[in-house]
Amino acid sequence: MRVLSGIQPSGAMHIGNYLGAIRQWVAAQGPDAYYCVVDLHALTLEIEPAALRRQSDDLLAILIACGLDPTRTTLFVQSDVPYHAQLSWLLECVASYGELTRMTQFKEKSGRQQGYRVGLLTYPVLMAADILLYQSQQVPVGDDQRQHLELTRDIAERFNARYGEVFTIPEGVQPPVAARVMDLQEPERKMSKSVASPLGCLFLLDEPTTIERKIKRAVTDTDGEMRYDPAAKPGLANLLEIFAALTETTPTRVAEGYSRYGDLKSDLAEVVVEALRPIGARYEELRADLGELHRLREVGAEKAVEVAARTYGAAAAAMGLTPRP
Ligand code: AMP
Ligand code: TRP
Repeated sequence: MRVLSGIQPSGAMHIGNYLGAIRQWVAAQGPDAYYCVVDLHALTLEIEPAALRRQSDDLLAILIACGLDPTRTTLFVQSDVPYHAQLSWLLECVASYGELTRMTQFKEKSGRQQGYRVGLLTYPVLMAADILLYQSQQVPVGDDQRQHLELTRDIAERFNARYGEVFTIPEGVQPPVAARVMDLQEPERKMSKSVASPLGCLFLLDEPTTIERKIKRAVTDTDGEMRYDPAAKPGLANLLEIFAALTETTPTRVAEGYSRYGDLKSDLAEVVVEALRPIGARYEELRADLGELHRLREVGAEKAVEVAARTYGAAAAAMGLTPRP
């Protein structure tokens, strides 16, 4: 099964990224899995060049620290493979303006700023190029990306109908529990690095004392009744889901083991700290040796280029372009 996914180097990774994305990547890794640090996507919002450069390496290192093995799977940086931007242009000539302006993420992000970049509008087309270049069958993503995946399928089907069968039609796959980790302070919104409250977000590289403090202060509710009920008790449900996801059980079963919120929180803090400890240690090791990190980056780029070149050539030729020999 050919799998591809991507993640933006736009800041520190948190436990939502880990449970909603990275952990699924690790579980599905192998010779047929392609994972991509999407640095071109990060250019759709304002970012300092030095920050982009540093964060791309940080993300590569954290992905390896989380368990991705660049020798067993293909882990690469999007801009190392020029075909992503090239195929994106071809697909922009297949996608319609109307379907791009209907994307929820575009509406949200463009509404927040004046003079937003055109890349914000064409963002999902570049994402479609990422997916289609590798003839991906499955794309593990959090549910906020489902709409972009549907668009990718529409673009691929339209391309195939118009120009001939070039692309595999991909399918989104979602993790069963904790697909959407919520903010610890505002459990109605998704945990995100861009949210103002720093207490609401558990970063993978947080110190143990920071993790304990954030979990202790997590917002729950006042009736004190221990049960898994995401609609009525979103804060508690979120803690139960994180706990369940890290210990391979269900939120309901976790709830059965506790009567007091305080006890649940202190055990959850321990579970999180222990899960993150080896990740932090491996990350420090990798980040201390930039030469080795860049060697691994190059290994991934070479494997990715081979596959991407073939698909790009087929798509370009199907549209009437004449690739140079
Ligand atoms: P982002 O941090 O928004 O660039 O997302 C990177 C990846 O992590 C995507 O696959 C998202 O769907 C996933 N993700 C981000 N935030 C969360 C969250 N709070 N819960 C679950 N998955 C998330
Ligand atoms: N848009 C995705 C996000 O913000 C990142 C992404 C880019 C991606 N290209 C992709 C995810 C290809 C899956 C497949 O999370």
